[in-house]
Amino acid sequence: MAARRLLVDVHTHVYLPLYANVLRSRSNVPRIVQRNAEERLVILENEPSEGRPVGPQYWDRKEKLAFMDKHGIDLSIVSSANPWLDFLSPAEAEPLANDLNDDLEAYCASSPTLTGTSLRRLYGFGLLPLVPDIAPSSILKTISQVASLPHLRGVVLGTRGIGHGLDDETLEPVWEALASTGLVVFLHPHYGLGAGAPGAFGERENGHVLPLALGFPMETTAAITRLILAGVLDRHPDLRILLAHSGGALPALSSRLASCISHDPIVSTRLAHDARYYLGKLYYDAVAYGAEELGFVSDSVSRAEAYSDINSSARNSASRVDRSEGSQRILFGTDHPFFPPLSSTEKWKSVVENLEAIDGVQGWDETDKDGTLSARSDFVGTEHGANLVNEAGR
Ligand code: URA
Ligand code: ZN
Repeated sequence: MAARRLLVDVHTHVYLPLYANVLRSRSNVPRIVQRNAEERLVILENEPSEGRPVGPQYWDRKEKLAFMDKHGIDLSIVSSANPWLDFLSPAEAEPLANDLNDDLEAYCASSPTLTGTSLRRLYGFGLLPLVPDIAPSSILKTISQVASLPHLRGVVLGTRGIGHGLDDETLEPVWEALASTGLVVFLHPHYGLGAGAPGAFGERENGHVLPLALGFPMETTAAITRLILAGVLDRHPDLRILLAHSGGALPALSSRLASCISHDPIVSTRLAHDARYYLGKLYYDAVAYGAEELGFVSDSVSRAEAYSDINSSARNSASRVDRSEGSQRILFGTDHPFFPPLSSTEKWKSVVENLEAIDGVQGWDETDKDGTLSARSDFVGTEHGANLVNEAGR
């Protein structure tokens, strides 16, 4: 019988009940507030005070599974939604991280099995207590905890690190530990570009469009660029970093980044490779909503190896590439339960658009598309080195 490919969602969120209660208990942002009969989520800087509606789709596992069933999603790798533990003190963040990781493990471990396999339908990305003044040993302990929980396959990370960004030297042992455990690092934005920036809310009422469409992806772009510039990917080539929202603007700006580096007296000799090379070492969700954008990310990944030699003069001749190589590193996601449809529809537009985008990438054959839909790479590695799809024997 022909193998059926699985549909795997690598970008899908939860506020576990314990975390939702923390948000409810707060009088400052981030918080969940009661407005008349409904609860609302107020988490972004300068967010209009009403925030966004929040409900059981954020914490009730039945709703996650119903959403998956509705869209034909076999397996989801669930991560806590922003802003994680960023607003807590070290004394609060470490125990809460540990409790939430245990809760996420239970949420996944007791989820239904995928018919005909030994797999569960839910896996997770855990949390680290990345807050200012935390002892690095607390972070390392939590990495060990996550690595010991069989249904957690990585960690979700914001961009602030322990207050100084991800290029902070103090985080070196953290990258080391994440690389050696093989945990996936899902890098996700929360802060946008900060108040007053073009990607912030602005004075005119634009809903959440500016921070979500522009601020979020630019934040991710800056964070991963700082990581590259700090040499983290040179020192830890085994790190498996998954970039939210298809890597933001990194693919589109990578040649400009390479040029700026090569013209900068401070940075020009720092990296082992041309900046474009690192694009081939990263993973990207397919939460871009457009076939052209996915094709471009795929091209950027596919040509990356040609930039291995920092002194190569073959730059632009490397542009004719086999686009399908990139599909190995681009993985379907939904961002559920964010972006619900505004009017009642059978399926969510945000999901359908992402599926159509994958289907429409020019130069991708069915194997490429299936690879993106089912997280075909080694991305969701198990301790045995197999990926979830192999584990399912499909
Ligand atoms: N809005 C958020 O705050 N987070 C997401 O992940 C998506 C939309
Ligand atoms: Zn998200």
